Amino acid sequence: MNKNDSILKAVNLHKKYQLDQVEVPVLKGVDLEVCSGEFLAVVGVSGSGKSTLMHLLGALDTPDKGTVCFNGVDIFTAPDTYRDDLRNREFGFVFQFYHLLPELTVLENAMMPLLVGATVRRWLGGAEEIEAQARDLLCRVGLEHRIYHLPAQLSGGERQRVAIARAIINKPVILFADEPTGNLDIRTGRQIFDQLVELNQTGQTIIMVTHDNDLAKQAHRIVRLHDGRVIS
Ligand SMILES: Nc1ncnc2c1ncn2[C@@H]1O[C@H](COP(=O)(O)OP(=O)(O)OP(=O)(O)O)[C@@H](O)[C@H]1O
Ligand SMILES: [Mg+2]
Repeated sequence: MNKNDSILKAVNLHKKYQLDQVEVPVLKGVDLEVCSGEFLAVVGVSGSGKSTLMHLLGALDTPDKGTVCFNGVDIFTAPDTYRDDLRNREFGFVFQFYHLLPELTVLENAMMPLLVGATVRRWLGGAEEIEAQARDLLCRVGLEHRIYHLPAQLSGGERQRVAIARAIINKPVILFADEPTGNLDIRTGRQIFDQLVELNQTGQTIIMVTHDNDLAKQAHRIVRLHDGRVIS
């Protein structure tokens, strides 16, 4: 995969929700292409469908119509196992409210994706290696002094840094971040954003939803969702 090669392409995506008897159309023909190495910011007013779009691009939900191709493979006509693999191996996710497992330590949370994907043999034989990788990443996000803390014993920014470490431990091809700074004060939000920029500079492709126009401007490209479509 070379830098600037197209890796994700959405064509004519439609998605509506059914609320009792009422249909809520959200996406009405979204076209979007993302290239390897790109840092893409997705903006739009609250309710414009940014999270809905991220869920479709990240194979967390299915569209009513339209296609999403990852490296040329149509992810919604591929078998379920392919989408499972995408979510477990090729895609990483960071959400506004962290979604850490409260009963696990920082270190265990960060290790989780590797443990989930590991065979029993790897569990037994590779646990030390997995732990070393997690420690390494936690160090990289500045949390080496917090690895035995529980999420409840961390600040918001620290929790998000754990979530970032967890999201990238599988070396995902694409990192999806849905308002990763949305729950943080401005200064902490900037630190988290800087961490994403640093990751992107090492080649990580990132698709980030944000309400913060200043942050969005620092991405390579901004796409705006409006009335169910992408406008540049
Ligand atoms: N499960 C659901 N059932 C019904 N309607 C939904 C559902 N999920 C989202 N919606 C509606 O779809 C629209 C788009 O929601 P979405 O969460 O994608 O917006 P968003 O752009 O991410 O908003 P925000 O900036 O507030 O996070 C909203 O009007 C929302 O109320
Ligand atoms: Mg949202």
